Amino acid sequence: MRTVNSLKELRTILRGYRQQEKTVALVPTMGNLHEGHISLVRKAAEAADIVVTSIFVNPMQFGASEDLDTYPRTLSEDQEKLCDAGTTLVFAPSAEEIYPEGLARHTRVVVPEVSDGHCGASRPGHFEGVATVVSMLFNMVQPDVAVFGEKDCQQLAVIRKMTQDLMLPVEVIGAPTVREYDGLAKSSRNGYLSEEERRLAPVIYQTLQATAAKIAAGREDFLELSQEAGDQLREAGLRLDYFNIANSQTLKPATREDKHVTLLAAAFLGTTRLIDNLSVTR
Ligand code: PAJ
Repeated sequence: MRTVNSLKELRTILRGYRQQEKTVALVPTMGNLHEGHISLVRKAAEAADIVVTSIFVNPMQFGASEDLDTYPRTLSEDQEKLCDAGTTLVFAPSAEEIYPEGLARHTRVVVPEVSDGHCGASRPGHFEGVATVVSMLFNMVQPDVAVFGEKDCQQLAVIRKMTQDLMLPVEVIGAPTVREYDGLAKSSRNGYLSEEERRLAPVIYQTLQATAAKIAAGREDFLELSQEAGDQLREAGLRLDYFNIANSQTLKPATREDKHVTLLAAAFLGTTRLIDNLSVTR
């Protein structure tokens, strides 16, 4: 496994693989890798001959008051895990390599509607930053397939829509959420939790499951259900950002006609913001 930092080097190596008619899979990450990320690499290795994993903490997708500066950077541990999981090439560029003229002067990709609610409402500009960097990574690596986690289901929907609208020749593959033993979705941000917060955190997934069970049993008063779930999270001691029930495809508020609905939750434990989601077929 090799690690490269420059676009020039990346392109030279990839040209070699292309000449050998190898197929290429891309797994974009921000590093500090856990089993969730590794499951994407394994899926990518099944889907193509060569796996490129990018590690880049993308400043464009962080808000001014968010954790860009404190986001954990653990490159050497990440490299070891990636090598074991079947990554061929790690691309770990600097911010200067990706945004040579700075963020303000950089072209941006806006994906309307699907970026609007949920995390898009609480993190203005976040999905613009994600769509911009992912479209750049697609152009830099030119992968046949790219793998993303369903844990960030709105991000996955934004990337699917962008890929379709910009006619990018990349097959986007979703991978299921990997969880801790108690149901908490694995996340780099779980490391910020105190012992007490970590003990409370599984309530997010428990509330998603309990609400999904009510929907599966026939309830379709989605607004009331969201409110009840939000109240449960608040009572457990979390600061609620949102608990929404949406059409799984469009992520717009669910209606009684929808067969596939997705429950999306975001909540703060102290200063740490956690997200999770669960889909139900009615
Ligand atoms: P990051 O948070 O590092 O996540 C990288 C990929 O891992 C994403 O596709 C995410 O959905 C997936 N992932 C994270 N936790 C997971 C879990 N518990 N189970 C399964 N998959 C999981 O998401 C980003 O980085 C960035 O926004 C990025 C796409 C790299 C663009 O900067």
